[in-house]
This record gives sequence, C-alpha cells and structure tokens, in this order.
Amino acid sequence: MSLGNNGAGKTTILNAVAGLIRSASGSMRFLNKEITRLPAYEIVRLGLSLVREGGKPFTEMTVHENLLMGAYAPVPWKRKEETVKRVEAFFPLLKQRAQQLARTLSGGERQMLGMGRSLMSTPTLCMFDEPSYGLAPIMVKKLFKYIQALKEQGITILVVEQNIRHALDVADRAYVLENGRIVLEGKSSELIENDHIQKVYLGL
Ligand SMILES: Nc1ncnc2c1ncn2[C@@H]1O[C@H](COP(=O)(O)OP(=O)(O)OP(=O)(O)O)[C@@H](O)[C@H]1O
Ligand SMILES: [Mg+2]
Repeated sequence: MSLGNNGAGKTTILNAVAGLIRSASGSMRFLNKEITRLPAYEIVRLGLSLVREGGKPFTEMTVHENLLMGAYAPVPWKRKEETVKRVEAFFPLLKQRAQQLARTLSGGERQMLGMGRSLMSTPTLCMFDEPSYGLAPIMVKKLFKYIQALKEQGITILVVEQNIRHALDVADRAYVLENGRIVLEGKSSELIENDHIQKVYLGL
C-alpha cells in the first residue's frame, strides 16, 4: 500500500510503472524483466495492470464491452468468456448492468467496473489508484473486502490510498511518499504505531 499527501507523486509513479508516461530517469523491473521502456499494452501482457483514479471506463461502451476490453491481448482473449463469468460472479452488479452504457454508472459502480476490467487481463499484480475516492463509507468497506478477496486469490495488490486506516488494516506492507520519494516503509502493523503516521496521516 502506498500513502502520501495530495501531489506527493503517487499517481505519477503508478502511471510510470504501467507505461502510461515515460520516466525521465531510473529503471523498473517486473518479474525479473526490464519494463522501463515497454509500452503500456506490453506491460499488461506481462500481468501488471492498473486501475486508474475513478476506474476510467470507456464511457460510450457497455459494461460488458468494457470488460472485454480488459482482455484485449492474445492469451486473455482466448479465455475471455470464462473470465467474464468469474468476474461477474465476483461483482454481480457487473452482470446485472452488462448492457448499460458505462457513462451512466455511479462512481462506486465505475470503480467496480475498473477493477473488473483489470481482472479480465488475468494479472499477477494489480495496482489501484485511490479506489475509495468519492465512495460512501459502506461502499468503502465493501471495496476493501473485494481487495482482501483478490489478495486471497493470490493476486498481488498495490493500493494508493488516502483512506489510511482501512488500507493499513488490509495491507501487509506500506510505503509513505513525499515529493516523489519513499520516506517511510515497513509492515502495516508497525507503521500504524509510528509517530509520524499517527500525527500527519491519522491526526492523532
Ligand atoms: N504533466 C505534468 N506536468 C506538470 N506537473 C505535473 C504533471 N503531472 C503531474 N504533475 C505534478 O506532479 C505532482 C504529483 O502529481 P500526482 O498526480 O502524482 O500526485 P498524487 O500523489 O497522485 O496526488 P493526489 O493524492 O492528489 O492524487 C503534482 O504536484 C502535479 O501537479
Ligand atoms: Mg493521485
């Protein structure tokens, strides 16, 4: 899990890892493979997917079509029907709304669609950029349950969150970013006891 104030550089880092923007320096490896210069579509094929802020659906496509877009690579495409079934079992709402245009979804529903679309690429590492943003407290609870369930299915999850208490509850490790750099990292159970975290992020 990654924490940090507004403008700390969290989204920028995720976008750089996913290949949506080029990093000016440094290098990135994923599963022992150099990915620094790879385009986004090749990074997804390696099993690394990003759910961007707000889920970013294709607004003029239906929910079902959005899900299929997530499988748009040779290997996931062959298994797309079976993966859709699994994703719809996980998020029943996406089945109920399969034929609805994505632009008509609420914020929470878009977030679910974003997660569902990401799962369609059968990722091994899933990154979520502020998945709880704009959600009602009850939805936030539900969302973290989903994240926990994905983790139990063996998918590695990296979540950027302002909702620190919830995030520290589900995460094994946490990283605190300030000005684009990691200033603090460790086990969530230890960070929750940390003075700096308590003062700056939990307001205790
Ligand atoms: N293309 C760009 N040109 C200039 N500045 C940029 C650009 N993209 C991002 N920034 C700046 O870089 C900083 C980090 O932005 P980023 O979106 O990564 O922050 P963040 O940690 O995700 O913040 P938030 O919690 O508000 O989403 C911000 O000050 C932002 O204004
Ligand atoms: Mg951001």
